[in-house]
Amino acid sequence: MTATKGLEGIVAATSSISSIIDGVLTYRGINIDDLAENASFEEVAYLLWFGKLPTQAELDDLNRQFSEYAALPKQTIEHLKLLPSNSNSMASLRTIVSSLALYDAEANDMTREANVRKAIRLQAQLPAVVAAYSRIRQGLEPIAPKQGVSIAHNFLFMLTGEEPSEVAIKALDQALVLHADHELNASTFAARVTVATLSDIYSGVTSAIGALKGPLHGGANEAVMVMLEEIGSLANVESYINDKLNNKVKIMGFGHRVYKNGDPRAKHLMKMSRELGKQKGTLELYEMSVKIEELVTGQKGLKPNVDFYSASVYTTLGIPRDLFTPIFAISRLSGWTAHILEQYEDNRLIRPRAEYTGPTNVKYVPIAQR
Ligand code: ACO
Repeated sequence: MTATKGLEGIVAATSSISSIIDGVLTYRGINIDDLAENASFEEVAYLLWFGKLPTQAELDDLNRQFSEYAALPKQTIEHLKLLPSNSNSMASLRTIVSSLALYDAEANDMTREANVRKAIRLQAQLPAVVAAYSRIRQGLEPIAPKQGVSIAHNFLFMLTGEEPSEVAIKALDQALVLHADHELNASTFAARVTVATLSDIYSGVTSAIGALKGPLHGGANEAVMVMLEEIGSLANVESYINDKLNNKVKIMGFGHRVYKNGDPRAKHLMKMSRELGKQKGTLELYEMSVKIEELVTGQKGLKPNVDFYSASVYTTLGIPRDLFTPIFAISRLSGWTAHILEQYEDNRLIRPRAEYTGPTNVKYVPIAQR
């Protein structure tokens, strides 16, 4: 028995949800470029859950359910108000999502129909949780969700109470499409391991949020923004990056376990970063990001991943830095729950082995003789 560090190259499950083949990402066989250009996040969520693009009537029905379920239980609002005002955003999300199970009468109903309903409810509620968390910590009251608008629109509205621009809605919607699923990434694997014990969907999603939080996974988008803030201006990029690379410090938002020739999602976010910057009348974050890319790719051959340009996109949209990873969670929830449903369909406990590297034949020593 020989272990492969980080399970690199290990095929640990079969899945028909998303694929990465020769550097091309597809959801249910549809190229991500096609979806990013044409599909709404709601269509993509339907595609991931049900395996096909929705008809207009199916999409209308899904949107109706998103609107119907978006309001949070009043206990959840009270719970959010009880969190310490400086609590970590992803830790808060993990806690609140776990607690949502307590107010769901179907939480432990393991039928497929009930699990689909829970996936839809969670998808409707997560944006409201993140927006309410953001407002409450600023001493503001949460804003009730709007009816009949997209998830991207509703989230931006609940965050600020103001009508978002069409450009902002489109940008966030496209970012949600791009983050929705990604084969057996760390958080999805965590979700599948959890539910493969036949634990419930809330437990699976709570595990996934915990895994997404780390800076080697979803937490990288926030870490990219920390870096951009530390650098401060275009003029400082070169010395900052060279210093980090010379000291073998990882540059957040670069590299990927699977993509070695570039992440196909990054170009869309790069374009969005430029367009939003132009709209806002300041391209500084975009230009700093391009310069960082030039240096890191030039010196290390590493390409930007999905998290790199997300940072400048979200900041230009006026979103606070520590909500970047929760927004990733809002999107990836669609993929997590699709994978959870798929795991339940043909379940077997996930229980690998470990290569033992400790001592052997050690005798027990009574405590008085140690
Ligand atoms: N900056 C500088 N060097 C890097 C980077 C980076 N971002 N990423 C990898 N390297 C180097 C490593 O230092 C290592 O060099 P060495 O062989 O000289 O020691 C080599 O490239 C291989 O790196 P690993 O960390 O072993 O690669 P792995 O496949 O395990 O990790 C990961 C992939 C975690 C994404 C890594 O590239 C990384 O830490 N990137 C920064 C964090 C990040 O952006 N994460 C988001 C990933 S996308 C997502 O989850 C949504």
